[in-house]
Amino acid sequence: MFLTTEQQKMLDGEHGHAIAKLTHLIVKIGEVNGATRLIPIKNAQIAGVSYLTVGEPIFSFFNMLSEDNVKVSVPSWLNPAGMDMKKWKEMGIKNDFAEKQRRIIKQYQEMGIQTTLTCTPYLIGYKPKFGDHLAWSESSAVSIANAYYGARTNREGGPSSLASAIIGFTADYGLHKKENRVPRIVVDVKATINHFSDFSALGYWYGEKFHGIIPYFKSVKNANIDQVKMLGAAMAASGSVAHFHIAKHTPEAEKVDLSHISETVTFDESDKKQIYNHFNQIKERVNLVVIGCPHSSLEDVKLIDSSLGDKSIKEGIKFWVFSSQKLMQNDEAKKLLTNLEEKGVKIFTDTCMVVSPVVRENYKNILTNSAKAAFYLTRDGTNKVTLLSLSEIIEGVSE
Ligand code: F3S
Repeated sequence: MFLTTEQQKMLDGEHGHAIAKLTHLIVKIGEVNGATRLIPIKNAQIAGVSYLTVGEPIFSFFNMLSEDNVKVSVPSWLNPAGMDMKKWKEMGIKNDFAEKQRRIIKQYQEMGIQTTLTCTPYLIGYKPKFGDHLAWSESSAVSIANAYYGARTNREGGPSSLASAIIGFTADYGLHKKENRVPRIVVDVKATINHFSDFSALGYWYGEKFHGIIPYFKSVKNANIDQVKMLGAAMAASGSVAHFHIAKHTPEAEKVDLSHISETVTFDESDKKQIYNHFNQIKERVNLVVIGCPHSSLEDVKLIDSSLGDKSIKEGIKFWVFSSQKLMQNDEAKKLLTNLEEKGVKIFTDTCMVVSPVVRENYKNILTNSAKAAFYLTRDGTNKVTLLSLSEIIEGVSE
């Protein structure tokens, strides 16, 4: 691999042991993937925050980094943690977990990383620009950065996104290269796609069938950011699809090279039904509703409020919505929050149903409108999940 003089110095340890190790990591990843150079990144989104997912080994990694007191060199922000940083007791988080979670966040903070704790940084002002090279690691955020904004990022692991955030470079391979961003399959969407859960079902269906292959969706009518994030998240979960195009909606779609299309497939009502049937698992009483995978926007939260109207959540059922702290800070959001709390809806921030331990541990029968959440919550067989549209959920759990 060609390295600039500065990059070579970093690799040779002239900037310290930690920088050398991190540069080595990025160079090795690049070599394995056929990269011939390192390229500068604009910013980084770093996963590997929840104590549930990183466990004790994260502290040895931090120790190695703290020897050289390294800091990030580009704007960087964090994925959700394992708990709401303020309302963790309300969630049922134990003291020991909370203490470890706080230590992790503090260490990231000391490296100069913003503790946004969200998988939707683009909803709180960190919108990537077309053509920007990034090192993002949460799979749904990666697909939105690529597809909705036309920025360029591979799906990084937690350590590699952190390494890139510190050294300021990533390896030039995969989705950083134009030729690897072209679609291979056209998806003719014949089914009616109205609800967020329909977008999620479409994404789940595609990812499961065509693992890792970039699609070109035609005939998708309403593709606002909240709908696209459901589509991308589900596709990334079931099939590691990190980029996609939607005709007339995504920035690369109109200029994209369609000469590599190898087949056209159809998504019809029966395909949609098959996904809803797959996640139709609850046979007993529902304990919990989880909304906000990916993290809810303010519009998502308003929709929950307006759909509920004068109704409240039934006794014995918890209704949890996950979002980011920053979105819930303004006066309008605070008012909404109070209003929803009175109706039995809790908004938690900084975390989610998948990276927090409490959902899997304490609740068996869960309703959601996100196929990604359904996928992760049912993977080890502990939970039963039913996928429904928001309006169906509200109809069933309110009175
Ligand atoms: Fe975000 Fe958690 Fe879903 S990180 S995409 S809400 S699994």
